[in-house]
Amino acid sequence: MNKKPGYVFVWPIGTRIIHWMIAFSFTAAFITSFYENQLHSHVAFGFIFLIMIIYRIIWGVIGPKYATFNTFKLKPSELKYYFVEKIQNRWRKIPAGHNPASSWFTVWALGVGSFIVVSGLLLYGIQEALGVFSFLNDHYTAYIWHLDFIHKYASYLFLFWVFLHISGVMIEQFWHKTHMVFAMVTGYKKTEGEDTEVSRSLTFFAFFMIFFAAATYFFIISSNYNFLTIQKFTNIDYNQTDPLYVNKCGDCHVAYPPFLLPEESWERVMKGLKNHFGKEITEANITKSQQLVIETFLIENAAESSTREVSVKMLNSLGELRPKAITKTPYWRKTHQDIPLSVYKQKKIKDKSNCAACHKDFEYGNLDDMNIIYRP
Ligand code: HEC
Ligand code: HEC
Repeated sequence: MNKKPGYVFVWPIGTRIIHWMIAFSFTAAFITSFYENQLHSHVAFGFIFLIMIIYRIIWGVIGPKYATFNTFKLKPSELKYYFVEKIQNRWRKIPAGHNPASSWFTVWALGVGSFIVVSGLLLYGIQEALGVFSFLNDHYTAYIWHLDFIHKYASYLFLFWVFLHISGVMIEQFWHKTHMVFAMVTGYKKTEGEDTEVSRSLTFFAFFMIFFAAATYFFIISSNYNFLTIQKFTNIDYNQTDPLYVNKCGDCHVAYPPFLLPEESWERVMKGLKNHFGKEITEANITKSQQLVIETFLIENAAESSTREVSVKMLNSLGELRPKAITKTPYWRKTHQDIPLSVYKQKKIKDKSNCAACHKDFEYGNLDDMNIIYRP
């Protein structure tokens, strides 16, 4: 006997919470992806999404009735019939479990979702040099553009998928009047069939995963760097490692971390100290031998020897160009194109070369996205 006459209990509470956690974590990760300095939250939401996807795949094998993959209707003929009937018969009966369209939807969503999380984790490791895959940053920076492409367009595809899903549910709700919207809220579908039953151990498993996802989220956002968000490049105290450089080149502006320009650019800067951006730097300021030491340091640690995102992308954007200023590189221009010129005129900033005004810990070579101050 069904608990509620005319209705079938299809989605137990665990399934419903997880459904909304997937929806919520995707939306939140999508929104935070537009703000570099929200990378931490973006990754934290991504982890909820990841854990929920893993859960849903396991649930598809061991889960209760109506949720398992073997009840999915994936034959093309079934899908065709589903749409034909949908158009021809407004009052057709809906199945208690997944219909052919939602079966396909779920399989696709899990597939695309997996692409999103895998490419995201790899991108986080290789491009940002953060997290469990940061060790891959040593060798695979050539792939960041591919990963970025996959991560971005898989997310757009997922979003498109979500819109299709929502449209389908709305059509059910308002045209076929099947009360579909409430199914994922109350768990009941207006149809015929047997109520689903969930064993204690499955309920426990579902709630464990919900708890695990929430705990992971809080674990990530509550500390700056932990093993899930571990930094490969930690702050460098140039004052300790290269005091001469900081002393001599950090007088008028922050001593720029050497990985921000290629070797030849540093060579040009050092050969042209007589006319250094309108200032004259003579041997009275920095002796010839000090200049040589500094030049060697800069060249040894130039962009070519670094696998940091900024170095890799900067070099890539430069082609044959070797400008003397970071702010003259196409990469810098592109990453700062949305900042209105008036911002640089603010008292606290004064100049676009004053990187440290907007990049916290810049003087330690830290250009992590989380350290960007959008409104200095
Ligand atoms: C006498 C002051 C002074 C000293 C000393 C000095 N600089 Fe500069 N530097 C400037 C000025 C002025 C600019 C123009 C940008 C600005 O206003 O900050 C500049 C700009 C730069 C830029 C380009 C920044 C950009 O916009 O991308 C680099 C690179 C640079 N300096 C490297 C060095 C190095 C290397 C040394 C040490 C050998 C050094 N500077 C020492 C005054 C100085
Ligand atoms: C007025 C503040 C401001 C100044 C000054 C500034 N930046 Fe930025 N920078 C930003 C903001 C904001 C972003 C993020 C832009 C975005 O993606 O919308 C950014 C992005 C970047 C990025 C790209 C980060 C990424 O992962 O995409 C790099 C690298 C960078 N800045 C380096 C520098 C350097 C080097 C300097 C100095 C020569 C500098 N910035 C000066 C505000 C500033």
